[in-house]
Amino acid sequence: MTTLADFAAAVESLDAVKALKFSRWGYSLANAAHVLGIALLVGAILPLDLRLLGAWRSVDRTMLARVLVPVAAAGLLLAVCAGMVLFSVRAPHYVKVDLLAWKLGLIVTGATLALIFHARAGLWVERAGPGQAAFHGAASLFCWLGALLCGRLIAYFPG
Ligand code: HEM
Repeated sequence: MTTLADFAAAVESLDAVKALKFSRWGYSLANAAHVLGIALLVGAILPLDLRLLGAWRSVDRTMLARVLVPVAAAGLLLAVCAGMVLFSVRAPHYVKVDLLAWKLGLIVTGATLALIFHARAGLWVERAGPGQAAFHGAASLFCWLGALLCGRLIAYFPG
């Protein structure tokens, strides 16, 4: 197996993937799980990033992060797992879709930024100055809203 196209063809021909393609509920449930993951991820990230950008200054940043970061991480995990299932049923098509490549790039960048900012047991969230926090909030919003937009637009610009 040498190319991405070979890999995609191999994924699509797996028995489990064929079964999913022809099952009555499988694809719809994976799609619903994908949307639930996106809702949890973006629903948690948005208020956190707006707080980092300076909104709701009376709300403690560290406490907010303690609640919203695990919700966002769980949402991302669910969206990634369900996204791979959606990808598998038309893998040879999706490997040629530029918007999917952009979307995956934005997801990797957003997740890396989040790890850098939050990984040290939340200490950075407490210590970061207003400028650093605002930079992270803006970059994070760009990545996650960009990924959301690319994901939705794939249906309209498939080539
Ligand atoms: C490894 C991670 C992911 C993969 C492989 C993946 C893959 C996919 C695939 C194959 C589709 C169906 C596209 C179509 O034919 O219309 C889709 C839909 C979508 N994805 Fe993802 N996705 C991933 C993560 C995410 C994340 C993290 C977000 C949000 C930030 C997201 C947002 C969306 C949206 C909004 C849709 C359209 C849903 C709909 O209208 O039903 N995806 N994704």
